[in-house]
Amino acid sequence: MNRVYIKTYGCQMNVRDSEAVAALLRNRGYAIVADEDEADVILLNTCAVRDQAEQKAIGKAGHLARRKRDGGRLMLGVMGCMAQNRGTDLLDRLPDLDLLVGTQKFHRVPDLLDNLFASEKGLGPRPATLVDLDVEEGSQNRIREHSDYKNARQIAAFVSIMQGCNMNCSFCIVPKTRGRERCRPIEEIVDEVRELAASGTREVTLLGQIVTSYGRGVIPGRNGKSPFVQLLEAVSEVDGIERIRFTSPHPRGFKADLVAAYRELPKLMPYVHLPMQSGSNRILRAMNRPYSAERFLQIVEDLRAVVPGMYFSTDIIVGFPGETEADFEQTRALFEAIGFDMAFIFKYSVRSGTRAAEMADQVPQEVKEARNQTLLEILQRHSLSRNRGRCGAVEPVLVEGLARKGEGMYMGRNPGNRKVVFPGTARLVGEIVPVRITDATVSTLLGELVLSGVEDSAGTGGEAISTGRATSAVLPCGTGSR
Ligand code: SAH
Ligand code: F3S
Repeated sequence: MNRVYIKTYGCQMNVRDSEAVAALLRNRGYAIVADEDEADVILLNTCAVRDQAEQKAIGKAGHLARRKRDGGRLMLGVMGCMAQNRGTDLLDRLPDLDLLVGTQKFHRVPDLLDNLFASEKGLGPRPATLVDLDVEEGSQNRIREHSDYKNARQIAAFVSIMQGCNMNCSFCIVPKTRGRERCRPIEEIVDEVRELAASGTREVTLLGQIVTSYGRGVIPGRNGKSPFVQLLEAVSEVDGIERIRFTSPHPRGFKADLVAAYRELPKLMPYVHLPMQSGSNRILRAMNRPYSAERFLQIVEDLRAVVPGMYFSTDIIVGFPGETEADFEQTRALFEAIGFDMAFIFKYSVRSGTRAAEMADQVPQEVKEARNQTLLEILQRHSLSRNRGRCGAVEPVLVEGLARKGEGMYMGRNPGNRKVVFPGTARLVGEIVPVRITDATVSTLLGELVLSGVEDSAGTGGEAISTGRATSAVLPCGTGSR
C-alpha cells in the first residue's frame, strides 16, 4: 500500500514541484510508479492559470473518485495551484479527496500520507480530507530534493530558485496561487547545482514565476549587476554544468546587465522565453504589463545584437477584454516581425478574483479562436522555415537519452533548445556532440553524428567522436531547404 502515482498539469514549476515531492516520498519509503492503475495513492499536481486546466484536473479527480467509490483501495490527493486557488470549495465538487495540499506545503506530503496510512491501519481516527493550504515562511527552500526515481541520470535538470510573483498582471491568478516573491539564497542554489553536476547533470534550467526579479530587495546589486545576474554568474562557475537556461523572465528584467550576460557567460544558452502577451500598448496597459510594444522589440534587438540567431519563444494572450481588431492587428504584426521560434498562444480565460475578470467588452469565443489560429499559422510557417534553414549546419547537441520512437535513435537539444533526433549510442548520453542537421519538421531537427575521424588516444584508429563544445557552423546544404 505504498505505491504513489503523481500526475502533473501545467508549467515546468509544477513539474519540478512534483519531482521534489516524488523524491521526498521515495526517501520516506514510498514507491513512485509510472502507471496509475498500479498505484495505491494518486496525487494530482494542478494548474489554475486557465479554466481549461482546472476542468481537466477536476474531471480526472472525479473519475478517480468513482474508482474509489466502486471499492478500489485508493487514496486521492489534489496539490498545487488549483488546490490553492479553490481551497476547500473544491470539496463540494470532490468530497472523496483524502488530501488537499497548497503550493507552499508540498514538503508536507510525506507526513500527511503517513498520517492517512496510520489511520487506515486503525492507529488513529479516519480523518476527513486532510487540508493544508497555509502560507509557510521559507517554503521556497524546501523544493530542493532530486531523485533518480526514473532510474535515469538527469542530464538536464530543473532547479527552483524562487516562488511567487509580486507583479499584478490583470489577467493572472498566479500571484494568488503562488503568493509573494520569496527567493532561495544563492549559495543554496549553487550547492544544489553542484550536487546535480556530481550526479551527471550537464544542463540546468533555473525556474521561477518571475526569475528576473530574483532576490530583488533582499540581495544587493553588485557592480551594476542585479541579483539574478549574480546568480547566473555563480551557477556558471559550477564545473560540469555546460548549459544554463531559465524560465520565466519578465521583459522588464532585460536591462543592460542581463543582455551583457549573454556575451560574458558562454554557458548561458542563446534561447530566451520572453512573454509578450500583446503587441498593443493599450492592451498592455490594461493588462498591467509595464512595457510598450516598442520597448519589447528593442529588447529582442538588443539580444540579437549580442547573439545573432538567438532563439525566442513567447506567451501571447488573444481575446483579452476590449481587444479590438486593430489591437489584434498590432499583436499580429509584432509577432510576425519578431519571428518567434516557439510560442504559447492562449485564448483569454476569465479567472475570478482577477481585475480583468471584471472588465467590460469580453471577447466572444469564436473571435478568440480565429485570432489564435492566425498566430498559430504564422508560428508554424516561421518555425518550419527556421528549422529547415538549419539543414546542413553542424550543431552541438547535448544528448539526453533514447528518442521516444525509433530503434537506436537518440534525442538531444541544440543550444536553441530545439529537439534534435539522430542515430546514436548509449555512451553518448550526457555528452555534447556535433550533429549535422539533415531534415526538419516544425518542432524537431533530424540529423547525423559528425565523426571527427581523429585517431583515439590508444591509436587504434577508431572513430573518435568529438565531445567538445562544438560551435555551430553553417555548411553548404546538400539538399537545399525545401
Ligand atoms: N511568468 C509566469 C506566467 C504564468 S502564466 C510563468 O511562466 O511562470 C503563463 C502564461 O499563461 C502567461 O504568460 C500568460 O500568457 C498565460 N495566462 C495567464 N493567465 C491567463 C488567462 N487568464 N487567460 C489566458 N492566458 C493566461
Ligand atoms: Fe502572472 Fe504577470 Fe506574474 S503573468 S506570474 S502576474 S508577471
